[in-house]
Amino acid sequence: MGTPKDALVCGAGGFIGGHLVKKLKKEGYWVRGVDLKLPEFSETEADDFVIGDLRNPQVCRKVTDRPFDEVYQLAADMGGAGFIFTGEHDSEVMHNSAMINLNMVDICSKMRVKKMFYSSSACIYPEYNQTDADNPKCSEESVYPAAPDSEYGWEKLFSERMYLAYYRNAGLEVRIARFHNIFGPEGTWQGGREKAPAAFCRKIAETPDGGEIEMWGDGKQTRSFLYIDECLEGVRRLMDSDFTGPVNIGSEEMITINGLAEMIMGIAGKSISIKHIKGPLGVRGRNSDNKLINEKLGWKPSLSLEVGLEHTYKWINKQVQRASSAGHISIKTTEDSKGLGKTPSADILPAGNK
Ligand SMILES: NC(=O)c1ccc[n+]([C@@H]2O[C@H](COP(=O)([O-])OP(=O)(O)OC[C@H]3O[C@@H](n4cnc5c(N)ncnc54)[C@H](O)[C@@H]3O)[C@@H](O)[C@H]2O)c1
Repeated sequence: MGTPKDALVCGAGGFIGGHLVKKLKKEGYWVRGVDLKLPEFSETEADDFVIGDLRNPQVCRKVTDRPFDEVYQLAADMGGAGFIFTGEHDSEVMHNSAMINLNMVDICSKMRVKKMFYSSSACIYPEYNQTDADNPKCSEESVYPAAPDSEYGWEKLFSERMYLAYYRNAGLEVRIARFHNIFGPEGTWQGGREKAPAAFCRKIAETPDGGEIEMWGDGKQTRSFLYIDECLEGVRRLMDSDFTGPVNIGSEEMITINGLAEMIMGIAGKSISIKHIKGPLGVRGRNSDNKLINEKLGWKPSLSLEVGLEHTYKWINKQVQRASSAGHISIKTTEDSKGLGKTPSADILPAGNK
């Protein structure tokens, strides 16, 4: 048996990063995680976990103290529509995520890291191709002329370009994926940063049969959602391949938001009415286009949305029951989630730049 590969996972306290650490450990890697916080819902399986702020170059240097076989850069200041599309967090999102990427790509290049993964997003695709709910266009080459509908998307596009520049100029082997709405157990399910699948699982779990939930917009906007295990399978296959990307990692099973809520109600065995209210929405239609990933990796995700939602509802329902029996169930607003950019409980001093 050869020496195990070593990997650094940035954002290892988050949803995708937490799951990725578990997957890499199962595959026999030695793993270091870094994040502002430990994973919220289960203990990290990383061999080594640094609580630190990646906006601070000193922290980046400290965690990248060797030429890692693989670095996965998932750390970002992000959330669902209630966080990204209100406009209130634009400066934090751009500044914080860009700082992390500026630092990490440079230090990884200097430390001769062998391969670096960057998690971009479907939010980079131009708004003008996503105005028809039934026919959104999200093929990889359709990104230009660029017109993302959020600053989050602009930062992702800038960072994609920066990683590719390091690939061309410094020989850093990068792999870039554009994630489309990843969901699953152990993701944010309350507090204002949660995404639609988690938000509806929570609302439906909290609401009695025959009750009512609120939904932003008319619910006719479309999206696709990818289960976490499929996302990680795609990431690992991309890392093991010679293909740099950017490539979509998403599901092609497009559904309306009304349809999503109804599917969750079916899983919960509840009949609940939907009250449509005003709220941040994002583009009218979005779906992953999996032609390129299939062509380059000979693979594309295939798990049905319903199966992924069954696992996710079960987990969120448990969190809701636990919180309500502990007497502190509350649906918080985005106001409650503003703390992320503030001082983390770090063993390394935060950058102090925000
Ligand atoms: N979940 C999705 O649907 C989705 C879709 C598209 C792209 N992405 C991208 O995938 C990556 C992971 O997403 P996720 O859903 O796991 O999000 P997440 O918010 O659960 O994880 C991101 C992690 O980054 C950490 N972080 C933020 N600022 C940091 C800093 N300054 N220093 C150190 N750590 C910091 C956070 O604490 C968090 O744990 C992100 O880059 C995100 O933009 C996710």
